[in-house]
Amino acid sequence: MAMDHEGITQAPGALPIVGHLVPLLRDPLHFLKTLGSHGDLVQIRLGPQTAVVVCRPELVQEVLLHDRVYDKGGPIIERIGNALGEGLASCPHSAHRRQRRTLQPAFSRSCLHEYAAIMTEQIETLTTGWSEGQTVDVATQLYTFASGTIARTLFTAKAAEPAIDTVKECLPDIFRGIYQQAVLPPWLNRLPLPSNLRYKRARNRAWAEVSKTISLYRQDDETHGDVLSMLLKTRDDAGGALGDAEIHAQIMTLLVAGIESTAVALTWAAHLLCQYPDIQERLRTETTKALGTRTATWDDLPQLDLARRVITETLRLYPPGWILTRTTATEARLANAVIPPETTLVYSPYLIHHDERFNPRPGSFDPDRWLPEEQHMRGAFIPFGGGARKCIGDNYAMTLATLALATIVTRWRLSPVDSRPPKVEPRMTLAPHDLHVRVECVEREPAQSS
Ligand code: HEM
Repeated sequence: MAMDHEGITQAPGALPIVGHLVPLLRDPLHFLKTLGSHGDLVQIRLGPQTAVVVCRPELVQEVLLHDRVYDKGGPIIERIGNALGEGLASCPHSAHRRQRRTLQPAFSRSCLHEYAAIMTEQIETLTTGWSEGQTVDVATQLYTFASGTIARTLFTAKAAEPAIDTVKECLPDIFRGIYQQAVLPPWLNRLPLPSNLRYKRARNRAWAEVSKTISLYRQDDETHGDVLSMLLKTRDDAGGALGDAEIHAQIMTLLVAGIESTAVALTWAAHLLCQYPDIQERLRTETTKALGTRTATWDDLPQLDLARRVITETLRLYPPGWILTRTTATEARLANAVIPPETTLVYSPYLIHHDERFNPRPGSFDPDRWLPEEQHMRGAFIPFGGGARKCIGDNYAMTLATLALATIVTRWRLSPVDSRPPKVEPRMTLAPHDLHVRVECVEREPAQSS
């Protein structure tokens, strides 16, 4: 096997000039799954750039825990910074502690409890809008659901309705644009191609609408119990208020980081329940017992254990954040390799979750592997990353997805429309390309007359 630096193996099959770009674009998931067999640290080449893929859970944990050495960086992070401003997900280590302290209170348990009321309201709208035997475009509907719910958590005031609509409409072009800008050469991104123009227009529209909402909130002194009100009240250590640019960057970051990943997770869960009708029935037994005919609320969470395990197992099989990067701020020693400064490192939840050395029977959908008595290898389940940069919205996403899935299954029986597996579309998130599901109303026992 070719070794470049000691302890780092070159991935085989690089072509002159393009390197591994062809397998990475053609079938990135298969390509990722093969890398672990070449070594613990595997170098890949994308055109002129190289990156080292970290293929062992312990080493991924080491990278995630030492966030000063392995700082945020790499092409996607740079494009996110350009598109949204320096928010929590893309800021460097030097700014991170302060930014995280600012946002963390908005994700406390007591805030989540309050946001759950918005979730329940939105779940009610989602699950009462279908009709018997309808074919539902779940990917689109769950996107609309997640974007409406998360945007309302950020700004609940009536005056923010236009911003919510604009953001919902613009985000898909923004997601596509960020990913495209990250994987294509910079000169291509500067051309006035329709996709570039669409991206710029969407970003500018969303930007302007969020700015308007911030000004509206500043004008009225009311507190709306949402994330934007909290950010406006926040004072830094020196007692100063946050500027509009920082508030803007945080709101855009939460929208971009939160919406697509949560929507995609729920969409995969719906797909898996179609593929495994026995698990769907078991889940329905649990949720019907807990909910009857009600929409799930925060207080139901302790009774929705299987629903939570279904979501957890979905995140293992299809982690929405499938490829993430870091850049070494200084020379680093990882395993027995010396990694020079400014090296791009890649960690992939997908790769780790699908390696049978760390997750036995990686291809099978088995929510029971998450029963408390089952043993897991530490660090081998990382859908939300880890360390100081771990997802700030992990509990929010788990709550929303669990309550939504439980209510959907209680009311609707899901079955596949197409027998072929959906095409996986690796974008910024790992998304199913176009997923439709047939829904049938779950019959209820007639109410007992007394
Ligand atoms: C199932 C849904 C979600 C998944 C799978 C997910 C996944 C992730 C992952 C893997 C990271 C770490 C990235 C890295 O290491 O570079 C992350 C960070 C982040 N996520 Fe999530 N996320 C989800 C939902 C959300 C939600 C609902 C929000 C907010 C509304 C959110 C906001 C963020 C933010 C702000 C960060 C950056 C945290 C920091 O650097 O301190 N995410 N997410």
